[in-house]
Amino acid sequence: MARSTTRFVCQNCGAQHIRWSGRCDNCGEWNTLVEEDTASAPVGSTQRKARAGRPVALSSLSGGDDQPPRISTGVAELDRVAGGGLVRGSALLVGGDPGIGKSTLLLQAAAGLAKTGRNVIYVSGEEAIDQVRLRATRLGLEKAEVGLAAETNVENILATLGAGKPADFVVVDSIQTLWTDSIESAPGTVAQVRASAQMLIRHAKRTGAAVVLVGHVTKDGQIAGPRVVEHMVDAVLYFEGDGAHQFRLLRAVKNRFGPTDEIGVFEMSDKGLQEVANPSALFLGERDAWAPGAAVFAGMEGTRPILVEIQALVAPSPLATPRRAVVGWDSSRLSMVLAVLDAHCGLKLGAQDVYLNVAGGLRIVEPAADLAVAAALVSSMAKAALPADAVFFGEISLSGAIRPVGHEPARLKEAVKLGFSRAVSPARSASANPEGLDVTRIDSLAGLVAMIASRAPKPGGDT
Ligand code: TYD
Ligand code: MG
Repeated sequence: MARSTTRFVCQNCGAQHIRWSGRCDNCGEWNTLVEEDTASAPVGSTQRKARAGRPVALSSLSGGDDQPPRISTGVAELDRVAGGGLVRGSALLVGGDPGIGKSTLLLQAAAGLAKTGRNVIYVSGEEAIDQVRLRATRLGLEKAEVGLAAETNVENILATLGAGKPADFVVVDSIQTLWTDSIESAPGTVAQVRASAQMLIRHAKRTGAAVVLVGHVTKDGQIAGPRVVEHMVDAVLYFEGDGAHQFRLLRAVKNRFGPTDEIGVFEMSDKGLQEVANPSALFLGERDAWAPGAAVFAGMEGTRPILVEIQALVAPSPLATPRRAVVGWDSSRLSMVLAVLDAHCGLKLGAQDVYLNVAGGLRIVEPAADLAVAAALVSSMAKAALPADAVFFGEISLSGAIRPVGHEPARLKEAVKLGFSRAVSPARSASANPEGLDVTRIDSLAGLVAMIASRAPKPGGDT
């Protein structure tokens, strides 16, 4: 008896179901099941008969060709996030909101590589050739020898790649527009995206080209449709930023060949993306140093120190349940800092609205930011501006103690480099104080509160 080959495939996680339902049992998303013919799907198909395998040649761990394993794109911030250049034979997925600058970034990287004599192919499934040319002209890159194609069929793309000189770098913009003849579903469905990605990844492994796939991001910040593509590629980079700011952050969320905590910082200008070699200067650029409630945090992003301003506003709340609003930091971490301030320093924040903002759209995950957050909160509450030339870092424990954090010398050095002359840091730390920096070491949060309170304007007196 012929079995039905249609399945309902979740467009979010790729799970297959026999029956349609409103919600995917696997990932819990609503309205993501779509009917697909899975008979022709190369993966997950149980329909084909098993055939006898063919032995493959085994090789040793040593050896290999003597070409450099990584190729530099000429866009240093991209190379840094990829782990020091792109790896030959690897597949990279670049995700981001529409209009954030993915196509611009990759066109710049493609042109950079073409200038060093590599064979570069840029396949656009979204834009016509003329549109890509227009962008290249705007970026001043129209002279770069990039092979351009507007194509969405994977078989055609692979035939094109196979026809000429082997490509070193291939950009496919975007994965959601691709379709292959081997699958009957519509373009953009999980089956299509997965099969297309798989064919391109196989091409990368076979020929040694570095293939970059562009993916769109859904409203909740994931690469639209199949998370499965994220598992298939070697590295996943997200390009983020918000409309209010000109700068963009490139962040690795997965990297088989490098670290995932590096960020690349760019600024979108009228001539494309400019690399920002000194992000601290950018993040501190619009600082209002004399306002209460602002503290400079000496943070780390991967191996790079970054100074960023943390702003807090504490104000009496008209609401029964006061507001807690956080941008760029973890809200449960804020609750913890507030609880410690309450329990160990006697600051009553229960009836206050608390707003916390990391300036410039940066998102901080380090616990080392605790001390800077606490300083900003106390400063706002006491209406006492912090010294404009001071940076803060340190982790706060539930007991109210300040714990040492990693990379202290790098943080202090960055502060000196940017003209800061004071630092407030954890007491129990062995590193030496750099020249020209007055380092105040504190061991408890109460010590910080006392320090800031002594700067508060005296009631009735002048400041
Ligand atoms: P784009 O690379 O098309 O974004 P994506 O591929 O992620 O959708 O970037 C488009 C935006 O960038 C658009 O709003 C215009 C802006 N832009 C500049 O500001 N300067 C430039 O030089 C370029 C090329 C684009
Ligand atoms: Mg684009």
